[in-house]
Amino acid sequence: MDILISEKELQKRVKLLGEEITKAYEGKPLLMLCMLKGASVFFADLIRNVSLPLEIDFMRVSSYENSTESNGEVKFLLYPSLPLAKYHVLLVEDILDTGTTLYTVIPELLKQNPLSLKICTLLDKKERRKFPVEAEYVGFSIPDVFVVGYGLDYAEKERNLPYIGKYI
Ligand code: IMP
Ligand code: MG
Repeated sequence: MDILISEKELQKRVKLLGEEITKAYEGKPLLMLCMLKGASVFFADLIRNVSLPLEIDFMRVSSYENSTESNGEVKFLLYPSLPLAKYHVLLVEDILDTGTTLYTVIPELLKQNPLSLKICTLLDKKERRKFPVEAEYVGFSIPDVFVVGYGLDYAEKERNLPYIGKYI
């Protein structure tokens, strides 16, 4: 598989993102919210680079049914269990593509009145956007190629690759 982002580059960038987040949320009650399953690997590395007394939670939606294209329908499979109103919430995503997923998820989370809600995505495929969603923290902007690894899957496979590869 062709490597798009190496393990070393990932670790370097994640460390910097962690430092940025540490500065931005100092003194604030921070909840880092992981979007399962794709963001799990990134999330595990990222939270260990944030030096704050943060809390974590998980949510899961599904919109891709074993294909490389979203079917446009977002199903909520797991809601966060902590009361979001108590926190500055940072939603951690693997990749921001068309924006369909987050465009649906964000209003749903805002219903709980978090102190603030921002997005941190490892990857951003800007040119694919169909809905106006922007992330506060972006690991890497990438071109329109289907990628796998470091949590990202194709039909549930390849999540365990330690790098981001171009799926062919
Ligand atoms: P969106 O709703 O189109 O923004 O897509 C977001 C979701 O689609 C991500 O959380 C991923 O699960 C999945 N996705 C989008 N592009 C890719 C890719 O290149 N590789 C693997 N998953 C992707
Ligand atoms: Mg996925």
